[in-house]
Amino acid sequence: MSGHPNDDLHPESWPVAAANPGFAGDTGEFTQLTEDDVRGLSFVGIRPKDGGHASVAGTLPYQVAEKDPEAPIFSGPYEDRLEKVLSRYPDRQAALLPTLHMAQEVRGFLSPATLDEVAQKLGLSPAYVRGVATFYTMYNLAPVGKHLIQVCTNISCNLCGGDAVLAEFLKHAGTEVGETSANGLWTIIEVECLGACGFPTAVQINDRYFENVRPEDVPAVLAQLT
Ligand code: FES
Repeated sequence: MSGHPNDDLHPESWPVAAANPGFAGDTGEFTQLTEDDVRGLSFVGIRPKDGGHASVAGTLPYQVAEKDPEAPIFSGPYEDRLEKVLSRYPDRQAALLPTLHMAQEVRGFLSPATLDEVAQKLGLSPAYVRGVATFYTMYNLAPVGKHLIQVCTNISCNLCGGDAVLAEFLKHAGTEVGETSANGLWTIIEVECLGACGFPTAVQINDRYFENVRPEDVPAVLAQLT
């Protein structure tokens, strides 16, 4: 019997299976690897000293993969990672989505050659892999800038100025929707709901969310994305 009506909302009081039946526990997948090993990341940005909405600070640092379109996808720590990914699925086909994510993390986008390489590695047909990669908008099928900036303009964000935030990003980056700025740093796209409707306008930059972004925050946010 819980002592407080909200006790049931506290995850720590839940049995793990009830909290998330799909939770696989600590698989140990990343325990042997440093973040740099796993992602090839450099961290860019620091907690903003000035500018930007206060709520943005909690989402930093944002992760930036070292994108090299020629880099080997399945070697070194990535080979280990693929093995661990494969061990979590009943067959190689089921591991296609995380494998594509890994390829994108390494190379920045999924070229036809990269898709063929993934298909060969997993023993799938190139047509099947292309069908999957082109279905999901999270896969970049063309090169993007160092920072992929996804501005939500769906209903909640739209009502709170999402269009103005998007326009401000485009103005300061000097680019158009879907295109990359001349300095190669920023690709700005407009996206549907990011699932952060309570914190409009929501902007996803690489793997991290920026929330409650206002048009006046944009210059300070862009200034950190170098
Ligand atoms: S409408 Fe923008 S995050 Fe949902």
